[in-house]
Amino acid sequence: MGQGHLVDRFNRIATNLRVSVTDVCNLRCTYCMSEDMQFIDKSKIMTFDEIDQLIRIAVGLGVNKVRITGGEPLVRPNLSDLILRVLEIDGIKDVSLTTNGIGLAKQAQALYDAGLRRINVSLDALSEAKFEQITRRKALTKVLEGLKEANRCGFNPIKINAVTMRGFTEEEVVKLVSFARKNSYEMRFIEFMPLDADDIWGRNMFVPKKELVDKISELYPLEPIESSSTLKHETAKNYQFKDGIGRVGFISSVSEPFCDDCNRVRLTADGKFRNCLFATEETDLLTPLRKGASDEVIADMMIESVAKKKAGHLINSVDFIKPKRNMSMIGG
Ligand code: 5AD
Ligand code: SF4
Repeated sequence: MGQGHLVDRFNRIATNLRVSVTDVCNLRCTYCMSEDMQFIDKSKIMTFDEIDQLIRIAVGLGVNKVRITGGEPLVRPNLSDLILRVLEIDGIKDVSLTTNGIGLAKQAQALYDAGLRRINVSLDALSEAKFEQITRRKALTKVLEGLKEANRCGFNPIKINAVTMRGFTEEEVVKLVSFARKNSYEMRFIEFMPLDADDIWGRNMFVPKKELVDKISELYPLEPIESSSTLKHETAKNYQFKDGIGRVGFISSVSEPFCDDCNRVRLTADGKFRNCLFATEETDLLTPLRKGASDEVIADMMIESVAKKKAGHLINSVDFIKPKRNMSMIGG
């Protein structure tokens, strides 16, 4: 191990780095973007060499898991080349990708050949009309083709993320669960968090876990998987179907925060290091890197950022301050 660990005042150790490779996306999901998002100037976006170097520095500080996110990571040309490079870093145990799935029909095989095995695909609805209502684009067919291709290539697990929104998700839940069960995907429902660009979030806008569990159970009885048998630092509360066919996860970031167990740090596409999804401050690593700062100096900046990590998000408190950047700029 290098010069230290990424440890904070509450003894949480960051071992999981989420790297956004672009803030650009080919969808405009209402819970994330606005229609007229301004994208960051290309010259300010990290190159693969810079991403590789920053990940290596983080790995020297104990990071062993990396998730590639966006925007939409697959709009970045040759993403599989980056995956290959990250998988080659000594000390990396796990690399995964969160995508909206549009690019998978074309890129799944290249990603699989690069060594990627775990993907999360965002999908909130199974009818073209509802898909378009959320994403503001007609792309459901592409996403479904992408999922099929990823399945054919052998990705495992394939998780499907749906953001739950009141007045929208209730009708979709059972359809999504049936679809996931049929194809051996793992369905996960994520509470809508106040990270949208349009400021539409409201406290009662997500559908709570209990309501979803009850709805699903009417058709497919569910039982919780005991926490001892689920992974540490798992953000999802997992349930299995009583008939043994598959499982469902619920990520209740707002109603049941898991900040106490957080092992994550983040790097935005423009090279800003964030100690929390909801951090109101970030540390610019790309500017010093481009000015020739040594790995040790950058490592110290990461250590210092993590040392300042707050106990948790304050979404449920009057003191909550919404981060300036929305989800597609942070990377989720
Ligand atoms: N709240 C919760 N999840 C969100 N995502 C995007 N915006 C939000 C939000 N405001 C999800 C996407 C994707 C992942 C990157 O984050 O659906 O699955
Ligand atoms: Fe794009 Fe993902 Fe944001 Fe939707 S949630 S607009 S797919 S970055």
